[in-house]
Amino acid sequence: MNIADITELINKFEQSVAQNTFIKLTLSNKRVSSSELKNVYVKPVMIKDRLLMSFVDRFNTKDVTRNLELQDASEEIKRLLEESFLQCYLASTTDDYHLLINKKGNSTLLRKPPASTVAPTLQHDKVKQRIIDSGSNYYLHALGILNQEGKVKPDMQDKYRQINKYIEIVDGIIKDVNFPDTVHVADMGSGKGYLTFAIYEYLTGKFQNENQSKFDGELVKQPLENGEILNQTEKIAIKEILMTGIELRKELVDSSNILAREAGYQGLQFKQGSIETTELENVDLLIALHACDTATDEAIYRGIKAEARVILCSPCCHKQVRRDMQTDGILSEITQFGILAERQAEILTDTIRALILEAYGYKTNVAEFVATEHTPKNLIISAIKKTTPTSKQSVIPDPEVIKKINALGAMFRLSSHYLQELLEK
Ligand SMILES: C[S@@+](CC[C@H](N)C(=O)[O-])C[C@H]1O[C@@H](n2cnc3c(N)ncnc32)[C@H](O)[C@@H]1O
Repeated sequence: MNIADITELINKFEQSVAQNTFIKLTLSNKRVSSSELKNVYVKPVMIKDRLLMSFVDRFNTKDVTRNLELQDASEEIKRLLEESFLQCYLASTTDDYHLLINKKGNSTLLRKPPASTVAPTLQHDKVKQRIIDSGSNYYLHALGILNQEGKVKPDMQDKYRQINKYIEIVDGIIKDVNFPDTVHVADMGSGKGYLTFAIYEYLTGKFQNENQSKFDGELVKQPLENGEILNQTEKIAIKEILMTGIELRKELVDSSNILAREAGYQGLQFKQGSIETTELENVDLLIALHACDTATDEAIYRGIKAEARVILCSPCCHKQVRRDMQTDGILSEITQFGILAERQAEILTDTIRALILEAYGYKTNVAEFVATEHTPKNLIISAIKKTTPTSKQSVIPDPEVIKKINALGAMFRLSSHYLQELLEK
């Protein structure tokens, strides 16, 4: 094996610690696919005035934390690279380094501009729950949301605000939802992946922190014979997030998959294809931000069919209903004005979507998620499954709600609503 690059990386790690520029180091891409150890995360911590390196070993069902002196940390990173992992990402405030090793043992060490220039705070055991942590997220730089100084670029302010608000809403909704240990998340029409990366990062952090604080409150840390600290009991399994972005455009799917690998996000993948037909294992949480026109219907359809526990869609344009809708009598007083006809189509489309979700057993709400000055496409339809999902048998819609939907459609002489068509196929 060519160990020159590993030695060089360790040197860079030690230099960055000595210069107080070290942010974090991530080991990913395990050498043996059956290995239980999925990732190792290293960050600096100050414990009783001593600077130590905190290692979090992420296994399928638990995290193990151990704190090492710098020299031991260097040896441990070297050992892990030789025995367990093929990739290492070192983030510092001056440069980032990405080490890639192939199965034959050949390696490349890439130097990159720093993803963040903000030094970490070295407090032990204080995990701050921010919505999006703009200080240390590699993907925010890679997607062009942050500039070199780690500040949100002026032309990305609206996007940044949107994804923050979306995550705030997800946060408010999912706290009362009972998710399984492996949470399957789907982002329909993921585009460049702004929301997908943010939600993935947020959910993995959230469940990690929740488990950590549950543990801290209940059981305290359990020292093991070898000096490690078990942060987790068998009773509390860390939730695993498996997230898929579905997107029609291949170039966006390819670039997002590359970025997910670079960021070490092993549970995140992107698939090329249409929302309606692309295969998905399961869906517990389905999101869609501005999936065009009927793509939002396809997204809701997939969520209902999969009996997703939560469906969150922010619709885009409403062309299907706009084309089909007709008015006469007093209603034509509204639709004689182009802009009001647009808005009427929007209201009709989204009301029917919300009612369909109700009919299929969801508690549904429609709200604004950002102010209209930032985007006119600011509605969010949120739906939480009222019952525990069945074993994926087809759910019969509530006939009373279907009657209301049909009456509403008849008022506007609607020959079809695309979501209803999909569900009745
Ligand atoms: C307006 S963009 C929004 C992207 C992303 N959700 C965001 O907010 O940053 C809509 C995306 O949905 C994709 N899309 C539209 N219809 C689709 C379909 N039927 N299946 C998969 N992707 C679709 C488009 O290619 C586009 O990238």
